[in-house]
Amino acid sequence: MDKRASGVEDPFLSGSELSKNENQKRLLRVLRGEILDPPPVWLMRQAGRYLDEYREVRAQAGGFLDLCYNPELACEVTLQPIRRFGFDAAILFSDILVVPHALGQKVWFEEGHGPRLDPLRGVQDLATLDPGRMEERLQPVFATVSLLRRSLPPETSLIGFAGAPWTVASYMIEGGSTRDFFKAKRWAYSDPQGFSQLIELLVDATSGYLLAQIEAGAEAIQIFDSWAGVWPEAEFRRWCLAPAREIIERVKTVHPEVPIILFPRGAGPLYADVAAQAGADALSLDTTVPLQWAAETLQPKVALQGNLDPAVLLVGGKAQAEAVERILSTLGQGPFVFNLGHGIDKHTPPDNVTRLVEQIRAWRR
Ligand code: CP3
Repeated sequence: MDKRASGVEDPFLSGSELSKNENQKRLLRVLRGEILDPPPVWLMRQAGRYLDEYREVRAQAGGFLDLCYNPELACEVTLQPIRRFGFDAAILFSDILVVPHALGQKVWFEEGHGPRLDPLRGVQDLATLDPGRMEERLQPVFATVSLLRRSLPPETSLIGFAGAPWTVASYMIEGGSTRDFFKAKRWAYSDPQGFSQLIELLVDATSGYLLAQIEAGAEAIQIFDSWAGVWPEAEFRRWCLAPAREIIERVKTVHPEVPIILFPRGAGPLYADVAAQAGADALSLDTTVPLQWAAETLQPKVALQGNLDPAVLLVGGKAQAEAVERILSTLGQGPFVFNLGHGIDKHTPPDNVTRLVEQIRAWRR
């Protein structure tokens, strides 16, 4: 039977029997190309400040990075949204910026300012990075992953993640968040050889980091290229698409069984090239990607994930129900994971997330 056409789950398997075989976990089944009715659901940034219980643990941890490097507390905040909403997947609680931090760059989080880094100014600063000690410095993250594998309900998949090289490089060069990416782009345009050394260093670091997460127990991987959408086509291919393809190939060489989701946010029509060339099992769609186009152009090649506007969750009610139905009725006809088009906002009322999950679980093709 064509697995893409298999439809509804076997009604004779109870939840506990399903969970005996990890291949039966609903997220993993869809990432391998099955159509599930209703689709699995999880939300980007599902652990975070919109939850009172997160803010409590966050205050207890001290700084944000202290929380990321505390396996017990990081495990606890990963589990909070699973307990509250029963999502089909948990995403490791950490941050994309632990990679530059573990490479030896100074990284800190200031209240109300987001991330800060002591910026790299050019190729001469690459020598200040120390990839040799990275894995050792990231041990607490791998400890969180193994703790999570032992703590999660048997039906819940565990997603590991990393930032894509360009997105991580942009923070390393800009020293924090930016509107225009001029420092990073100036380096890339004026010294593409030197810039490519940084990208290659991050391809190596990220591949090793993801493989170590898999070895610690991650069952699927998401690569966040949150700022892929700021480049012209040629630079998108060189600094976003090619490095993602390289990381995916390296991870798949060792662990071909672990599905990989790529999030090239803002790629527009280039999502089609990413679907054809990156080697990812699934693409996470940002909020602007047209649903029918994605269903026709991308979904025959890869599973899709997305793409509710996080702002809709601030509003709830009829606006939310209608937006969710549009996504389900279009993308739900193929291999599909319900998610947002970007991370959940800290002002989201948790009750709107409860309604969201109820609506998805009640939906049938
Ligand atoms: O629940 C989850 O999704 C897992 C944890 C997770 C975080 N960050 C926790 C976090 C994940 C997957 C990320 C990814 C991440 N981090 C990205 C890519 C995804 C995206 O949103 O585009 C990026 C660009 C970052 C870098 C980063 N980390 C920024 C820009 C900020 C500040 C913005 C903010 O919301 O404050 C962070 C901090 C951060 N990462 C928080 C959380 C829960 C908030 C920090 C706090 O608790 O004070």
